[in-house]
Amino acid sequence: MCDFGQHHHLEQADFGFLVDVPEIRALVEETRRLTGEIADTAARVEALRPAFGQLLAADGWLPKEYSEPDLESGMGGGIGQYALYRAKDGSLCLFSLVIPAGSETPIHDHLAWGLIGVYRGMQSETVYRRLDDGHDEAKAALEVARKQTVRRGEFYTLLPPLDDIHYVKTVSKTPSISIHLLANDTACVTRHRFDTTSGIVTPFRSGYSNAKCSPNEARSAES
Ligand SMILES: [Fe+2]
Repeated sequence: MCDFGQHHHLEQADFGFLVDVPEIRALVEETRRLTGEIADTAARVEALRPAFGQLLAADGWLPKEYSEPDLESGMGGGIGQYALYRAKDGSLCLFSLVIPAGSETPIHDHLAWGLIGVYRGMQSETVYRRLDDGHDEAKAALEVARKQTVRRGEFYTLLPPLDDIHYVKTVSKTPSISIHLLANDTACVTRHRFDTTSGIVTPFRSGYSNAKCSPNEARSAES
């Protein structure tokens, strides 16, 4: 187990297990096993529910420095996005997202399958459905598909393009912490933020608060 007091050491490691604890290793290993065994994405995500739920239910594995807002965040609003595990080939990542009380993310997409759950606090999630055919990369027509409150220990799945566009707001008095397991290197791929009033779609990369994106990721995301 690594020493969480060695903050400098943690920041040196941009890939692999940035937080090397048995709870995270167990989930990553189970994800790799099921990815090899189950070709169908929806079935794979379903099969991952128990392992993901176990990580959310466990205490003591998330370092304090990755449980706090980040005032210099690339997401804005003091939102901290901390890589916990990143596959070097960009096929999988696990990160914590810390949203201060009252703050919210922009409306955004993810572009990968995955599972997202609340570890601390409470979030409200608003999911959008796309009404246009997506042929214009700079514009989108969205309508609210549903809203849900996500409490500690609860989680949902992502199966793009279904339910891939949402925003999340902290509705607890304390910052919310959500845990994200996604099949890309989410903070380093070029995703999109959506303005529902103007219909404008803007490409963005959120970046991690504790790890760098590699120049290769920027190139492949732009191509
Ligand atoms: Fe999200």
